Amino acid sequence: MKALILSGGRGTRLRPITHTGAKQLIPVANKPILFYAIEAIRDAGIKDIGIVVGDTAQEVKEAVSDGSGFGVKVTYIQQDEPLGLAHAVLISRDFLKDDEFVMYLGDNIIKSGIINLVEQFRKESPNSQILLAHVKNPNQFGVAQLVDSRVVRLEEKPATPPSDLALVGVYMFDKNIHTAVRSIKPSNRGELEITDAIQWLIDNNLKVLPHIVTGWWKDTGKVEDLLEANRMMLDTYETDIKGDIDEHSKADFKVVIEKGAVIKHSTIRGPAVIGSGARIINSYIGPFTSISSGTQVINSEIEHSIILEDCLIEDVGVKIEDSLVGRNAEVKKLNEKPKVYRLLLGDNSKVGLP
Ligand code: DAU
Repeated sequence: MKALILSGGRGTRLRPITHTGAKQLIPVANKPILFYAIEAIRDAGIKDIGIVVGDTAQEVKEAVSDGSGFGVKVTYIQQDEPLGLAHAVLISRDFLKDDEFVMYLGDNIIKSGIINLVEQFRKESPNSQILLAHVKNPNQFGVAQLVDSRVVRLEEKPATPPSDLALVGVYMFDKNIHTAVRSIKPSNRGELEITDAIQWLIDNNLKVLPHIVTGWWKDTGKVEDLLEANRMMLDTYETDIKGDIDEHSKADFKVVIEKGAVIKHSTIRGPAVIGSGARIINSYIGPFTSISSGTQVINSEIEHSIILEDCLIEDVGVKIEDSLVGRNAEVKKLNEKPKVYRLLLGDNSKVGLP
């Protein structure tokens, strides 16, 4: 069995972070989202992984390399334009051959992993298996309609959803999917939809099994979802302190401080992670916060946020909350008169002022 991870696409909902980087490489609990997918696949015993890449190919290749660091073998498949999830399957034909495979959307995180899903597929040998979860906002997902536990209809982001069962971004297929992706036409949004390809399997009397996810999962396409995924992952951590904390600082439960991090005159209230080489001086890092490597937080308070690498947060008079801050960003009080805001913001940035 093989795996296909989709790590192309545009990531428009996460701009400006995704102007300069792949959305699948944004860290959740200081680990790129994509790495969770690779590890889940490896833990299910699959070692042969194709990764579909787009504009951000170079960055993904640098992060994952040939996969040996994860104990897997990675083949990169270039998609010149994000023409849809089924299009990604279409262009991966040479890699997939006639093998069964799991398709994993590179921006999804499923806490329970995919071992059970893969086992059920091996045991029951359907033509396809889809993961479903009950959600409050089904119109933002592919939605499935079941009759007597059989999938009868799938629709991509329907205005009036037939159920609250969303398609989670993990699918299993046998070789019939290749005929399906060649048979469908682009949708109204101009993409070859995987939901339409699975509907084609159903319409052609092939067996599509549902598998309901009970644990949490997240499509990390939006900032709120990323912060929630960060919260869920940090909550699974145990305290592990490898960096230096001075005697004037406190770190309570579920705090991970990586090697080379320096904490002085500060309180770190977990769950939280502080990356290698980060410096936290005279500051408060509150629950559900991830500080990436090389970032400095000085005389400031941060909670429920993700701060990427090499940022400087200094003398900020109000607590920073529910925030996602991109690499090398600087947030700093100006000691000047008159009082002014001085901004250098990328396209699509958002600033919330007190
Ligand atoms: O997360 C679950 C949802 O994922 C499902 O409920 C939907 O049925 C499914 O269509 C998908 O919806 P999204 O709108 O969230 O898909 P998105 O465009 O964000 O793409 C998902 C991943 O696949 C993302 O990592 C980017 C990558 N991708 C996307 C497209 C369209 C590619 O690699 N190539 C592509 O052409």
